[in-house]
Amino acid sequence: MTDGDKEKLDKIIQKYEGKEGFLIQLLLDLQSELHWLSRESIEELSLRLKIPVSRIFRVASFYKAMNLSPVGRHSVCVCMGTACQVRGAQRLLDATESKLGIKSGQTTPDHSFTLNRVNCLGCCAIGPVMIVDDDYHGRVDSKKIKLLLGQIASDS
Ligand code: FES
Repeated sequence: MTDGDKEKLDKIIQKYEGKEGFLIQLLLDLQSELHWLSRESIEELSLRLKIPVSRIFRVASFYKAMNLSPVGRHSVCVCMGTACQVRGAQRLLDATESKLGIKSGQTTPDHSFTLNRVNCLGCCAIGPVMIVDDDYHGRVDSKKIKLLLGQIASDS
């Protein structure tokens, strides 16, 4: 961990000092700061809180929201639900993989983007749908993907 990361960890630990049942929220806060929960950060946390590494890992691996491998600064999710598949989700996923140069479930080497497949997002009428960070995009085609991801990459 860098010194900056250790400072962030200290601040988060201080925030939960004296509170009970804080581990999940603390891990989510830490992930939000560091983008993922590295083995190193978990070991550091274990030392400072005097909680066994195995217990922290058990909690972190139980919750899907916690990332034990590096994730990108931007999250891209392509809906592969049935309605979106009928409307061209596979083409959308292929074009996104090609634009980012990674497969679903992977992160770009510069840690800019992580790409995932998800199931129905509940807005089938505007399919095919993708979420970039927290924004939903409907009726996406390969041209729109290139524009969208190009825009995000240039803003970063
Ligand atoms: S199947 Fe994609 S939003 Fe429902």
